[in-house]
Order: sequence, then C-alpha cells, then structure tokens
Amino acid sequence: MDVLIQNIHSHTDKTVVVKGWIYNLRSSGKITFLQIRDGTGFIQGIVHKPDVSEKVWDDAHKLTLESSAILTGKVSKHPKKDEYELQISDVEIVQVASEYPLGKKEHGVDFLLDNRHLWLRSKKQWAIQRIRNTLINATYEWLNDNGFTKIDSPILTPAACEGTTTLFEVDYFDLGKAYLTQSGQLYLEAAIASLGRVFDFGPVFRAEKSKTRRHITEFWMMDAEMAFCDHYGSMEIQEQLVSHMVKRWLERCQQEFSILERDTSKLEHVTPPFPRMTHADAVKILKEHGSDIHETEDLGADDETILTHKFDKPVFIEKYPAEVKAFYMKRDPNDDGLALCSDLLAPEGYGEIIGGSQREDDYDTLLKRLKEHKLPEKAFEWYLDLRKYGTVPHSGFGYGLERLIGWISGIHHIRETIPFPRLLNRMRP
Ligand code: 4AD
Ligand code: MG
Repeated sequence: MDVLIQNIHSHTDKTVVVKGWIYNLRSSGKITFLQIRDGTGFIQGIVHKPDVSEKVWDDAHKLTLESSAILTGKVSKHPKKDEYELQISDVEIVQVASEYPLGKKEHGVDFLLDNRHLWLRSKKQWAIQRIRNTLINATYEWLNDNGFTKIDSPILTPAACEGTTTLFEVDYFDLGKAYLTQSGQLYLEAAIASLGRVFDFGPVFRAEKSKTRRHITEFWMMDAEMAFCDHYGSMEIQEQLVSHMVKRWLERCQQEFSILERDTSKLEHVTPPFPRMTHADAVKILKEHGSDIHETEDLGADDETILTHKFDKPVFIEKYPAEVKAFYMKRDPNDDGLALCSDLLAPEGYGEIIGGSQREDDYDTLLKRLKEHKLPEKAFEWYLDLRKYGTVPHSGFGYGLERLIGWISGIHHIRETIPFPRLLNRMRP
C-alpha cells in the first residue's frame, strides 16, 4: 500500500510502499541505510543483506544522492525514540541521479541561490516552506472566521500606491505605462462598500534599491481593509491576526521548528494586546540611546531594533509625522501634523512586519493631499469617487509574508523565506 511518510506511524508492523528521494545514504558491511524524503517527511530505510535478494541488494547500491525510488518495506518503531524505520524488502529505481552538486561541503550563499531549484530540497528549506504554508492557511482561516471576503486586486495598475520611487514600469500597448502593484490597498478601499471587510493576498513589487536582509523586490502581501473601523480598531485586528498565526505555528510546526532550531519560548508570549508607543515617544527613547533621529524623521532599521529590544512581542509605533507617510492616511484630529497610522515592529531585529492606517475619507481633503504629493489626479479619479458615494470611516493594513516568516521562524535573511527570491542583483533561477 502507498503511504505518505507523515502517516507512517499508523502502519507499524505493516508492509508499505514509499515514493521519494534518497537524501543521504551510508553502507557498512551487510547493512545499508537510506535516508528517504517524500515531501511529507523523512524516514530511515534499512536494507539488510541476508533479508533481501541479490538484485535488491545490488539496486540499493546503485542509488546515489537525490536518486528517486519506490521503496517497499515493513514499518518498525524505534524502541526508544518516537521515530519509525522502514525495513526495506524491495527497491524500484526511478532514476539514478547524476552527481549532486549540493550538500557535500558547506556552500556560500551565492552558490546556494544559483542552485535555488535544488537548494529547496534541503531539510531547512523544506521546513521554511512548510511554515510559509501554515502561516498562509492561518491567515485565511482567521480572516474567513472574522467576516472578511477575499478580493483579488489587480497586479497591473495605472498609478502608484506607495510612492513613486519604487515602481516597476511595464509598456502597456497603446495606453502608455502600466506599473506593477506595490499593494492592492486602493482597490480594497473600493471593495469595502460592497463587502464590508475584505482582504487580498498576492505578489507585490517594489523596485527597492535596498540590499538589506529584509528587502526583496517581489514579495507577498496580505492587505486587509475594513469599513466603519478606525485606526484603533485596526490595530486590534492586527494583533489578533498575528497572534493567531503564531498560535497555529506553535501547534502545527513542531518538526519544522526543531529542524530550524527555533527557540519557541521567544514566541509563546505573542498574544493580544501588543505594546503601543507613539512615534514621538519612540524618538525620545531613541535619543536616550544616543540616536540623532529628528522628530519628523521616519524610523530606520537600527532604530526599530532598539525599540523592540525590551519587548517579547511585536510593538506598534503609532502616529508618525504625516510628511513621511503616504498621501491616503487620515490625520490625527488632535494634531494635524500626525498621521493616524501604525507600523507593527517584530522583535529580534526583524523590524516592520505590518504597515497600516486609517484612510482619509473626505473628498476635499483627499484631493488636497493628491495635489500636495503631486500625484496625477486623473489616475485617481475613481479613488476620489469612493469619497463621493457613501464614504465611511475606514482603515486597513498590509503585512509582508516573508518578513513574518523570517521573524517567526528565526531566518536571518528573508530571501530564504520565498521559494524563488527576486533581489536587486538576482532574478535567477
Ligand atoms: O508599509 P507598506 O509599504 O504598506 C502598504 O503597502 C500599505 N498599502 C498596506 C495597507 O495598508 N494595505 O508595506 C506593508 C508591508 C511592510 O510592513 C513590510 O512587512 C512589507 O510590506 N514590505 C516588504 N517586504 C519585503 N520586501 C520589501 N521590499 C518590502 N516592502 C514592504
Ligand atoms: Mg511601511
């Protein structure tokens, strides 16, 4: 019977068939150990010469690293450990792999990235992609349970959402330039008048000239947008969603975090509420730490690291100076110089994982902002329309999936959290 390794425990003492790859192997005398991987897990197969035919013994020795094979054997439980083994009785070779370029020695990251199509098979990369999948599912689960409808926003767009300096341009037939989306937010703002609470989840693009451990040029964003919700209500939704994601990770990814040697105690406290601090207070703290940051400046990566240092949860930094933030943010009624916005910063140096705000919902004010930001009014006509026909207070936020995976899994550079990273100097394979 064909069995997935993840289900092998329910087949103890039975003979089963496993289809997969040999990710390691070793022979000594009358015994050969095959480390088998099938996508759902890992198991050690044992070929014992006296128990198999000469052909099976010979075939087992033809297998090389990363050869594909169909293996039949009896499942046995390790007497002490919570592990299973396969006492192999038959080997059917699918392909004997050519000499595998990875894994014989330590590789530099450039070599690994050049071979990303193969590197993905390593245990660590397997664990990261499984965590990615768990976090995606946890997101859908929480949003669906809380009244959100998924709206697929377009990728080719006529205008910028997040500033014009990081736009990727595309020639668009006779219509001139199109731009790859930086965030689906503006389209979600249209959809709330139809569906109330909405989200999108897809690739977004930033022509970032930054070569840091937390910037890639193509990443996956989940944008959420809520009608009749203010800045404070939005922060509550954010902390509940992130806590749910961490909870599912703790419940469902034991094998993965032990492969990654991630210290889970760093995440067990991630439950609502998250600490909050205004940008002004953040600047005060940073100055006490010797920073020369100015009151009207955005926070840099080092600033974010300092601010998150004393917390074991992500921290909201609220109410940034409006001049460093996007045109669509509503101003604080108590101080017109401040935006009703927040960035959620993750601990351990991962920094901003979510950006969110209440949106400007007044027609005249929004028009004024577009002019101040020198944005093309024509391209935003439809967006202004939303303030003409049943405008309501509304807020939303967007998370960067790779930054969340990086923080939760303890992966230093987010390029490892996406299957095929696109970086300033790399878009291959
Ligand atoms: O803060 P950002 O720019 O916010 C927006 O795009 C809003 N329109 C979202 C919204 O309100 N619906 O981006 C959101 C998040 C950041 O907090 C960060 O996690 C991630 O996207 N991000 C990046 N991740 C990887 N590489 C990059 N170059 C990123 N730029 C932003
Ligand atoms: Mg941001």
